[in-house]
Amino acid sequence: MSEVLLEVRDLVVHFPTPDGVVKAVDGVSFTIERGRTLGVVGESGSGKSITFLTVMGLINRKSARVSGEVLFEGRNLLEATTEELRHIRGDRIGMIFQDPMTSMHPMYRVGDQISEAILAHRNVGKREAGARAVEALRQVGIPAPEQRARQYPHEYSGGMRQRAMIAMALVLDPDLLIADEPTTALDVTVQAQILEVIDELKQRLNIGVALISHSLATVADVSQDVMVMYAGRPVERGTRGEVFDAPLHPYTLGLLSSVPRVDVRVERLVPIEGSPPSLINVPPGCAFHPRCPYRFDPCDRDVPDLRDRGGGHDDACHLSAEAKAANRRERLDMQEPVT
Ligand SMILES: Nc1ncnc2c1ncn2[C@@H]1O[C@H](COP(=O)(O)OP(=O)(O)OP(=O)(O)O)[C@@H](O)[C@H]1O
Ligand SMILES: [Mg+2]
Repeated sequence: MSEVLLEVRDLVVHFPTPDGVVKAVDGVSFTIERGRTLGVVGESGSGKSITFLTVMGLINRKSARVSGEVLFEGRNLLEATTEELRHIRGDRIGMIFQDPMTSMHPMYRVGDQISEAILAHRNVGKREAGARAVEALRQVGIPAPEQRARQYPHEYSGGMRQRAMIAMALVLDPDLLIADEPTTALDVTVQAQILEVIDELKQRLNIGVALISHSLATVADVSQDVMVMYAGRPVERGTRGEVFDAPLHPYTLGLLSSVPRVDVRVERLVPIEGSPPSLINVPPGCAFHPRCPYRFDPCDRDVPDLRDRGGGHDDACHLSAEAKAANRRERLDMQEPVT
């Protein structure tokens, strides 16, 4: 039985600025289930971080117009008080960000920072909190955690700092982990290790995970569900298999064609031409149409709805199913299986 942990319905986050309204998030809906990872993918500025910062109540509501629903454990977090949100963050929802150096205090020992989180949320003594912090560091694969707990963040390597952040995010046993570009600052081998740690903990603790990344390839191995975002909206949503093996939206095809894959030898990498639009002047119709090689008559006029194309695989595109299948074949023709 699947258990929905987080349900976001039609989330809108607009920032009024002197230059116009920035439509950072413009109608985003998705669910995250227990025991599953949702990979959230899109180019820079597509609204990934703002979506999840809003979920966590970390957006300054005075500077933003926010609407929609963020349902977590039966409550709409958009209506929660600051105090309630503070309790939910850390305790029920853990977070990790791209650069642990900015999320960790440079002047405090790593073990003490984790202990502080425990002491702030749990009725335990200092000794017990310290022991739990060491245990948390052990769980994320930090060797000699007793000694490491007494060190400062700068004494850790980048990969170890990110492991320590994961330890801190999970030490209170949350149901949901939000990981926003957790591996971008790391080299490729360490990236893979960190994703493995997250995946292993997800299974062991049976939590839900949101894994945010620029790259579809990064989330591929560890996500069960995928949402592709463009200009503040989801353009495709489905299981990993659906989105990878039978992509529907031209933008997803573009993302897949512009990254090398291990399982196919790519003859020709085809980057998506152009750049993402300004979120103040989003193109009319489909926001992707100026960059879309398959655009036709309605694309610069009508906004395509995100629609179920069968079995819960959704996309927002005017092309027919046949045209999408043909585009997919064309893309695959450019790639030669490794023999
Ligand atoms: N306070 C704000 N006022 C105005 N615009 C903002 C504000 N905060 C964010 N934005 C804009 O919202 C858009 C979405 O930002 P967001 O950080 O969610 O993108 P992202 O998909 O996470 O990108 P990246 O991959 O670079 O992290 C950006 O164009 C950003 O400039
Ligand atoms: Mg971001």
